[in-house]
Amino acid sequence: MSATPITQTQMLLELEPVVEENLNRHIKVAKEWFPHEYVPWSDGRNFDGILGGDAWAVEDSKVSDVARSALIVNLLTEDNLPSYHHEIAVLFGRDAAWGDWVHRWTAEEGRHAIAIRDYLLTTRAVDPIQLERLRMDHMATGYVSSHSQDLVRSLAYVSFQELATRVSHRNTGKLTNDPVADQLLTRVAADENLHMIFYRNLLAAALEVSPNETMVAINDVVQTFQMPGSDIAGFQRKAVEMAIAGVYDIRQHRDEVVMPVLRFWKIFELEGLNAEGEKARSELADFMDGLEKQALKFEDKRDALQARIAARAAAR
Ligand SMILES: [Fe+2]
Ligand SMILES: [Fe+2]
Repeated sequence: MSATPITQTQMLLELEPVVEENLNRHIKVAKEWFPHEYVPWSDGRNFDGILGGDAWAVEDSKVSDVARSALIVNLLTEDNLPSYHHEIAVLFGRDAAWGDWVHRWTAEEGRHAIAIRDYLLTTRAVDPIQLERLRMDHMATGYVSSHSQDLVRSLAYVSFQELATRVSHRNTGKLTNDPVADQLLTRVAADENLHMIFYRNLLAAALEVSPNETMVAINDVVQTFQMPGSDIAGFQRKAVEMAIAGVYDIRQHRDEVVMPVLRFWKIFELEGLNAEGEKARSELADFMDGLEKQALKFEDKRDALQARIAARAAAR
């Protein structure tokens, strides 16, 4: 291992065989699926406007307000795929195994928005006009990763982000209380899990190639992690409601997303780090302790809130 930091181009080349191996693995385990099979088409009917059907009304929607928010946030996040594609196509390139992965991943992700939108419009779960305006607004803003142009940080980010998206889809499915939505979102979540595995394996290889720089990158990414939809208009308020409803909260973020990935990389057992690598690791450990405290505080607050709501309902 050289003492001088390796360049991004060297890292891309070092990881190329790992990309190829993991792409082949991915293609073997990823099952083909068809979005149209997951949509209850016969529940649908025309909307007002050109076809003179019925305008959407909130009573049409069988899901709760918070489930509706979660479905919208998850769909808008998927909708921004052209921006994500741009980010990774520029960073990974479009050649050889890297390019094959960029295109394959984009095709798989494209299915997510198609399937979720078809479900939402067919079942009238959300206001179609509001949804389209939000989509225009969100996509027109575009998405720029805060780790743009940085290969190792981007690989670390997507390892966590794909898993976070998996958790969010899974729990949104449960929250809808609709077995059809749950089945669809479980299917989408399974894709996100395979994406996570792909990126997690690549980052594991980067840790072998360049352990200290990769450790520094992981520490940065964990400390600054934001969900990909965090720039959706009104996201913060929706995120709080979704956290309280158990779609994605700080406990899940810590225990179901960040920790399992760190453990897979054996972050806290790695040996032979230099001073910079050790410093990053100990900052990361402190940060994870801080997250634990925040998670406990959040759980206390949520329990108290739920107790108040239950008491109010009982008094009625
Ligand atoms: Fe997705
Ligand atoms: Fe994904």
